[in-house]
Amino acid sequence: MADALNIPGMLSLAAGFTDNAVLPSELILEAMSALCDPTGSKECFQYGTNIGRFGLREEALRLLKTYPGEERLDLPLSQVAITNGSQQVLYLSAQVLCDEGDIVFVEDPSYFVLLEMLRGMNLRVLSIPRSESGAIDFEALETLFSELKVAGEWHRVKFIYLIGYFANPSSRSLSEEDKRRLGLLLRAQKRPIPVIEDAAYRNLYFDQAYPARSLLSLPEWAGLPVMYTGTFTKPFATGLKVGYAFSTSAEWMQNVLCVKGHQDFGTANFAQAILEHVLKADLYLTHLRRIRVHYKGKMEVLHRALVNSGLMEHGWSWSVPGGGLYLWLTGPDHVDTSLPSNFCKACLDEKVLYVPGDLCIAGGVRKNCVRLSFGALPESLLEEAAARFAAVALRFS
Ligand SMILES: Cc1ncc(COP(=O)(O)O)c(C=O)c1O
Repeated sequence: MADALNIPGMLSLAAGFTDNAVLPSELILEAMSALCDPTGSKECFQYGTNIGRFGLREEALRLLKTYPGEERLDLPLSQVAITNGSQQVLYLSAQVLCDEGDIVFVEDPSYFVLLEMLRGMNLRVLSIPRSESGAIDFEALETLFSELKVAGEWHRVKFIYLIGYFANPSSRSLSEEDKRRLGLLLRAQKRPIPVIEDAAYRNLYFDQAYPARSLLSLPEWAGLPVMYTGTFTKPFATGLKVGYAFSTSAEWMQNVLCVKGHQDFGTANFAQAILEHVLKADLYLTHLRRIRVHYKGKMEVLHRALVNSGLMEHGWSWSVPGGGLYLWLTGPDHVDTSLPSNFCKACLDEKVLYVPGDLCIAGGVRKNCVRLSFGALPESLLEEAAARFAAVALRFS
């Protein structure tokens, strides 16, 4: 994909990039000029701590507590860490929790970069069964658990990975009902199974925050090991590459921080200081309000262009998301959008890129889906990219 991007005129609906037009250069400039005051302490140019700046950890927690039902969340700051994007926590968690051949449960579909990482670590990835409506199929999940126990493999299940809000790639969110039931199911197990709740897109809702509370605040999850990951990359300054994590398990967080210490002994202190400045000045939420309108507008442009192309009449379907950066399209069963497919080659010829859906599905079992991102391209090019994609999709439908 990186090579294809260099082809002149190529339009990418593939990468999960944000829009340069709304990257907060003015807020960053303002923060930097305050931080670069020559009479100031200059501490932000010094090494920071492995766990991250105290003030930024406080602000990250404060941000989480702005969501309804999370105001009373009580978590010690020793279990809040700042990381190099949320990606780092995902990797470090997999590293400290798993050995080769272990089993990880993910949603169907899930974040393809994580799936690739798990495959690279020689882990077995199983999908959490879903019903037609998108809700977790608990009966099928319990059957799967039982089968693993009968096969003597239950002890190899090392964590469950959930994307709670406006997921990549499906833009689906997990209902509170599903979260509660999953909590009860996991409580009933003899061994606590760690769960990662990835909330990378939680702040990127369009009109309303998704109403479900995080696992951190649900009573059914009290005492269960949870790592909640968030990021400042998608909703703010992508290139600063700063994320954060909250864990209900002091041990899990300690183990993650131990390996982080070996890797980098702390996320860039200056990048953290910029974010801390913006958050403390209460400029962050104003910025979010602005970009929510922007991304909603872009989602609508892409959605409308695809609707007008007639794709739906030819067996393609997708849901209109309430947040995030993606449309997840399902084509007719016979359409194969996977990487070496003719569909894919035709899109390259038309100069448009997408993410083949099979990359997002454990085992790549379905090949008729695609992820389209409305994040990076300006509106005028989104329409053009949609037209190119639809021309191919109609040909293959
Ligand atoms: C679901 C999800 N989680 C985590 C990440 C990692 O983001 P970052 O490392 O920029 O915080 C991404 C990036 O696309 C993502 O889509």
